[in-house]
Amino acid sequence: MKIGMLTGGGDCPGLNAVIRAITRKGLQKGFEIIGFRDGWQGLIKNNFINLDLNSVSGILPRGGTILGTSRTNPYKNEEDIKKLRRNLQSIDALIAIGGEDTLGVASKLFKEGINVIGVPKTIDNDLSCTDYTFGFDTAVNIVTKAIDRLHTTAESHHRVMVIEVMGRHSGWIAIEGGIAGGADIILIPEFPIDIEKVNLLIKKRHLRGRNFSIVVVAEGAKFKGDFALQEDERDAFGHVHLGGIGDILAKEIEKKTGFETRVVVLGHLQRGGVPSAFDRVLGTRLGIKAVELVEERRFGQMAALQGNKIVSVSLEDAVGTLKIVDEEFYKIAEVFFG
Ligand code: F6P
Repeated sequence: MKIGMLTGGGDCPGLNAVIRAITRKGLQKGFEIIGFRDGWQGLIKNNFINLDLNSVSGILPRGGTILGTSRTNPYKNEEDIKKLRRNLQSIDALIAIGGEDTLGVASKLFKEGINVIGVPKTIDNDLSCTDYTFGFDTAVNIVTKAIDRLHTTAESHHRVMVIEVMGRHSGWIAIEGGIAGGADIILIPEFPIDIEKVNLLIKKRHLRGRNFSIVVVAEGAKFKGDFALQEDERDAFGHVHLGGIGDILAKEIEKKTGFETRVVVLGHLQRGGVPSAFDRVLGTRLGIKAVELVEERRFGQMAALQGNKIVSVSLEDAVGTLKIVDEEFYKIAEVFFG
């Protein structure tokens, strides 16, 4: 059996743990393992490397992906998808490691009769049917540490510090990083920003003597009403390039409260560097499960974490809707606002 794998979409810490686990488990089973380079682009161009024990040795603590990644959408171009289908004929099964876009392509290919298995990956943690995706825990730890550092300088200068974090459609990084870092306000895409309320909370906090504030905002958060923030440029999957909410929010806060305000955009720092122990273990478990699913020929499935168990779910269900932060969780964060 020849298994191909690829990593698609934004990178995140833990990808190499998955690649290593698939390779080691696959080789133990006597399978041949290859890795396509740069996501779907590698399959279109038939650009791959053979993976053996030595090629995955020492990669567990490394961030990013040794295979490279891209946001290529093969369905954007008829020629590309034809080439991809042709190149798929040289392998018996494909393991696609990615988020809603990569796995959306995988799900389509499965419906066309291709032997595909999915492994969930998104720093944003917003993929359905899995409790957590690897990379997220590392990102939350980075955000928490950043907030800890920003606390001391905010306090010394009696400033409001706005920290913009990743989270295109969901506020998982913002809410978990914000709660862990003791943020005074957390703003996420699921609940539109009421700027009057934000300013009031900050004013009240400063009045009671805490004359500094930490505000965490997810990049995809939007104001109530029609503040337009997004640029027109889109990627191959139609996503706009986000960023800028932190700046606008900081200006609004400073203008209306009179408190000096600064903004820090954590950006790709959240996706870089060594994976946490949790992400290494989760990536390893998901990779092993993916090989088992191939062996059992349960194609069209995705390995997933539910509770403390690694299970399999249908790819179609996983990419159907996004997993977003619910009101119950947001209410926990709100207890500490102001
Ligand atoms: O993959 C998810 C994500 O990290 C989002 O949180 C963010 O909006 C986007 O990717 C950034 O994409 P890029 O790496 O292409 O700038």
